[in-house]
Amino acid sequence: MTPTIQPADRLLNLPKYIFAQLAELKQQAINNGVDVIDISIGNPDGATPKPVVDVAINAIQDKANHGYPNFRGKPELRQAIADWVKRRYDIDINPENEVQTLIGEKEGLANIALAYTNPGDVNIIPDPYYPVLCRGTLIAGGNPFFVNLKEENKFLIDLNDIPIDVAKKAKMFFINYPNNPTGAIAPKSFLTDVVQYCKEYNILLISDLAYGEVCFGDYRPYSIFNIDGAKDIAMEFHSFTKTFNMAGWRCGFAIGKEEFISNLYAMKSNVDYGTSTIVQDACIEALTMPMDYVKGIMDIYHERREVMAKGFTELGFYAPRSDATMYFWIKIPSKFKSSMEFCKYVLDKTGVIITPGSAFGALSDDHFRVSLVQPNERIQEVFERFKKAGIRYE
Ligand SMILES: Cc1ncc(COP(=O)(O)O)c(C=O)c1O
Repeated sequence: MTPTIQPADRLLNLPKYIFAQLAELKQQAINNGVDVIDISIGNPDGATPKPVVDVAINAIQDKANHGYPNFRGKPELRQAIADWVKRRYDIDINPENEVQTLIGEKEGLANIALAYTNPGDVNIIPDPYYPVLCRGTLIAGGNPFFVNLKEENKFLIDLNDIPIDVAKKAKMFFINYPNNPTGAIAPKSFLTDVVQYCKEYNILLISDLAYGEVCFGDYRPYSIFNIDGAKDIAMEFHSFTKTFNMAGWRCGFAIGKEEFISNLYAMKSNVDYGTSTIVQDACIEALTMPMDYVKGIMDIYHERREVMAKGFTELGFYAPRSDATMYFWIKIPSKFKSSMEFCKYVLDKTGVIITPGSAFGALSDDHFRVSLVQPNERIQEVFERFKKAGIRYE
């Protein structure tokens, strides 16, 4: 028998990425001829706005863009980011040294954990969590301390749930509002408390603002830098994915004081060469084109949100509308022992793929997540199929 070369413990010890497992289940169903409706993943189904695509088409023809990119982000992009966060959040950042472009926000969140976590360090992480918020810590050999996001607390972290000795030891604290998967939003008072907490215990606060623009009606999320003093201890991570329908382009950025940004840069520059210059040019266009394009994208989610809320409510599920994000976070019917069991049942009976809560943490196995990434007709079809299969909340 060929001897096996064992991969590192850090890989073997990583929990299975449930989204990869879902992709396998989806493929099997497709291979069996099922007309699958996938409402599991937050992969926007809309096209990237045309002005952005047009800029990229031109940029790809330019030989100057064929070499290694500027790792930090080209100066014009860093300036566009500084101008955009000023316009959108009224915050001042220095494009010279307070911005780092990313190959998608996910990459940046993993690298910042690697840059700041020593083996054995404790990082505070909400459960449910977007997977990389925890995986970066695990890869670095750190110990996550999970704080459960509870419905009765509007899925905000209750700082009293963190023992003082954990707070004293903690190195990093990850937050994500508007929240994936719960759809929760954070009032300014909550962000103020978290900033004060991190200052008191000298913890690096990482705010994941991937859904900063995915909001409805008059609601507009805050930047962590809208909170006085946050810059001393916080960094904020942004993504182009949801705001501009650019999931496949892989682009995001981090902002924060020079010391934090330069440590992120030091980590990244040992591993990657930064965001392609073609994509960087496209990002400049995304940030400078009229924001009507973004509104157009969010109007579509807003409409779908109504269809989704109505459909689940009619089937007895508690599915409140959130003011932000493209998700519903819903309790599984009590007769199912785990969220994966429910998801497999739903796929088997209806061909619909939803995400089990366990994908977002061990404390979240009693929920499932659905996202607004299918047109209204397909969302309606989901509920037709649920009705036929007798799937209800009971
Ligand atoms: C909470 C959260 N953070 C970060 C990301 C990653 O974004 P990106 O596509 O820029 O890597 C996502 C993507 O779904 C997300 O939901």
